[in-house]
Amino acid sequence: MKLIIDANKREGVINPELYGHFSEHLGRGIYEGLYVGEDSDIPNTDGIRNDVLEALREIEVPVLRWPGGCFADEYHWMDGIGPKDKRKKMVNTNWGGVTEDNSFGTHEFLRLCELLGCKAYINGNLGTGSPREMSEWVEYMTGTGISPMTELRKANGREEPWKIDYFAVGNESWGCGGNMRPAYYADLYRHTQTFLRNYDSKNPIQKICVGPGTSDTKWTKTVLEACYEDAPAGTHGFMDYLTLHHYVVPDTWEHKGDAVDDAEGLWYKSLNKARFMETIIEKNEAVLDQYDREGKIGLCVDEWGGWYDVMQGTNPGFLFQQNTMRDALIAGVTLDIFNKHCKRVRMANIAQMVNVLQSVILTEGKDMVKTPTFYVFKMYKGHKGGELVSSYFIDNKEIGPDDARVPAVSASASIKDGVLTLTISNLSKDDAVDLDVQVGDRPQIAPCKTGTGPKLHISEAKIVSSANVYDHNEFGQPEVVTEKDFDGYEVEGDILKVKLPAHSVVMMRI
Ligand code: AHR
Repeated sequence: MKLIIDANKREGVINPELYGHFSEHLGRGIYEGLYVGEDSDIPNTDGIRNDVLEALREIEVPVLRWPGGCFADEYHWMDGIGPKDKRKKMVNTNWGGVTEDNSFGTHEFLRLCELLGCKAYINGNLGTGSPREMSEWVEYMTGTGISPMTELRKANGREEPWKIDYFAVGNESWGCGGNMRPAYYADLYRHTQTFLRNYDSKNPIQKICVGPGTSDTKWTKTVLEACYEDAPAGTHGFMDYLTLHHYVVPDTWEHKGDAVDDAEGLWYKSLNKARFMETIIEKNEAVLDQYDREGKIGLCVDEWGGWYDVMQGTNPGFLFQQNTMRDALIAGVTLDIFNKHCKRVRMANIAQMVNVLQSVILTEGKDMVKTPTFYVFKMYKGHKGGELVSSYFIDNKEIGPDDARVPAVSASASIKDGVLTLTISNLSKDDAVDLDVQVGDRPQIAPCKTGTGPKLHISEAKIVSSANVYDHNEFGQPEVVTEKDFDGYEVEGDILKVKLPAHSVVMMRI
């Protein structure tokens, strides 16, 4: 099998935000996972766990979405500001019916973003909120003049406004966000976004409109049609982003399969569903191209990942699941798809950051593990901000059972600062693959340090792999699935000969 890379054919910039995250008030995602409170004996900074912070800094989180998800459409931000002992308690009706004490609110979230050095993506409440509530939230966070919300923020101890990068009007408004029909949502969106004011003209808030959660493009078409109708020139349908959600539910919603025990049996079904992300993106790209010919609106895949049956013995509403080599492959395949569609896909947020669904980190009391997905994110760091370069396979056969075919190998390549980052996933559960990589037309890659000839210089090569597809990392035990040095390659003239072990994700810097 061959992979041909044309390093001179640039196909767009990979926005770092494609490697974004999502954390919702759900299960142990925020509480315990990220936030333990200042008085916890788990070492923390302003209540945020130091071990988790340190790990997240390793993968350089570019953007974090909060507070939901379904939770966002029942969240009233004013309940989460001011002295903690006076904050209202509420029932988290979406996720396990537990008490939400609102001790993690706007100030705590934005402190977390500061500590991570990432952009803030706030999801507004359209379902049970109002234009006024959303408008005042923006004023509270970003207001500069003398105004009720700015004064309130200052009274709560924050003098300077924060910079808010993204604000979404609702979440899954076709489902948990209000069961709306697309034309109705579109009108509400047009109406509400009007009142999301920009107090800092140098850093305008990017407005995010709710998009679809299936491959059916009716929602996208209807919303764009309504938002573009009589929209003033230059407003591109009043939006900067349109969202899209797609989860890998390997079997059915009733029986999704076990995160560990079914990793092998549902291997190809899972990867087939991960690959379906590309179909959904392409269908939506086609609709966007009809309305937004200049390509102003970005697709924002702000929820993606594997969704399995909850771990036995845990609260079913907490969506806690283990993370195996299968998840590493889902991540590799999906991130390659995002890279390849970087012209339109400008943000993506894995669901979710800690302890919920396909997390990069799991915690239990004082313990923490990094998941296989974490290590894939770490290996893919070099793509952030790079320029996608053209690549295509020759003889990339389809494998797997008839009802779940997948290409044997997935890859993407980008160039930044003269270095080419190549990521490759072998989707085969059982077989190694011999891959010849040919990097053609590469005068713009930095000259080889070892000589002047055409020899490719590999400055770094890493792999995430493991003996079994169900391998995962357990609390209190040495990590089984991590990123390791990779030496399964040889350079022969202009060809890089790579031997990809079965079920592996590889990264090479050329
Ligand atoms: O990520 C879990 C849930 O999945 C989110 O709250 C919701 O938006 C989606 O259905």
